[in-house]
Amino acid sequence: MSDLFSPLTLRDCEIPNRIAVSPMCQYSCEPDGLPTEWHRVHLGSRAVGGAGIVMTEATAVEPRGRITAHDLGIWNDQQAEALQPITAFIREQGGVPAIQLAHAGHKASKTRPWDGNDPIAPDETDPDGAEGWEVISPSPDAYPPFSGDRPAMRKATQDDIEGVIDAYRDAAERSLEAGFDIAEVHAAHGYLLHEFLSPVTNRRDDDYGGSFEDRTRLLREVTVAVREVWPEDKPVFVRISGTDWLEDEFSASWDVDQSARLAADLADLGVDLIDISSGGLHPDQAAPGGPNFQVPLAEAVSESADVAVGTVGGVTEPEQADALVRNGRADLVLVGREFLRDPYFGLRAGEALEEDGAASERWPIQYRRAVQ
Ligand SMILES: Cc1cc2nc3c(=O)[nH]c(=O)nc-3n(C[C@H](O)[C@H](O)[C@H](O)COP(=O)(O)O)c2cc1C
Repeated sequence: MSDLFSPLTLRDCEIPNRIAVSPMCQYSCEPDGLPTEWHRVHLGSRAVGGAGIVMTEATAVEPRGRITAHDLGIWNDQQAEALQPITAFIREQGGVPAIQLAHAGHKASKTRPWDGNDPIAPDETDPDGAEGWEVISPSPDAYPPFSGDRPAMRKATQDDIEGVIDAYRDAAERSLEAGFDIAEVHAAHGYLLHEFLSPVTNRRDDDYGGSFEDRTRLLREVTVAVREVWPEDKPVFVRISGTDWLEDEFSASWDVDQSARLAADLADLGVDLIDISSGGLHPDQAAPGGPNFQVPLAEAVSESADVAVGTVGGVTEPEQADALVRNGRADLVLVGREFLRDPYFGLRAGEALEEDGAASERWPIQYRRAVQ
């Protein structure tokens, strides 16, 4: 058996292989945050396609935390109920359903990418007529890419912070009711929790800003809240940006050493896997890009913290993904755009890496004549 198709057991959750569908926003809801037929087919096809984990897009824990009015949400019971058939279908296909719990912070209230990704003020609407809203941020002043023109942004108060922690706890409880086995806290890509982590965007001088301890406090408190309600036998993941890629631009930014230290703290709080992406905080970032460019970040975290790691970014080939696991560079390989190009990437990887019999048995029975 290839290493990519070896199971990964985290707590009592057996993930059948090391391939995960990386969370990818679809911007395909009405402003009610309910999943649509698009979500059923999109997530369902990737489950049919052999992914060990199928993770939802960034799913907002409160309406204010949506990137756009068209994001998926998990802030009410109706949303949890509507997600149930999707998690059931993923499980029927042999995959593990996972949800990414998100709050967009100051990157909220925007038009969809294909409408320009522009900020929308509360008195404005997007091209579909959905209204904007006030957004929160760790610091009072706007910062790139919105300097000077970020409408209706304000510094999060203590009440806002407590509200965010409660929203994550409630969202995790609802995710469980919806049938998810893995909850991933989104603390990457310049969204709220990352904005608190990075000294570039966090200029607070209270308990939630300043030192490493204070900048990481909100994420730690969110993690504790999620862990409180997430069952002991089910895993929790946290996605972080391993670095801001801003070391040459700012005297202080978020970097890999802080990520490694944070990962150890999160592991102590019961996090099972750190999913390591990077950047997304500031337009001046100097990210190298290319195949495997984020793998060294995962390796650095793995060396310093006793926790499983996931890597993501530029993985397109079965052999490449297999080598990442075989060489101990990551425990899980998250695949994004390649799964958009090919929803059956998992099955294709099986065909490329496995003996004929094992690979064809992984195909859904309805499709098996295609490979026999
Ligand atoms: C259409 C699209 C939507 C995305 N939405 C999210 C998201 O909701 N949450 C997240 O953490 N990353 C998101 N990402 C980033 C991906 O999860 C992934 O980290 C990135 O695309 C790099 O992996 P890849 O090279 O395999 O695509 C998105 C990427 C794409 C292409």
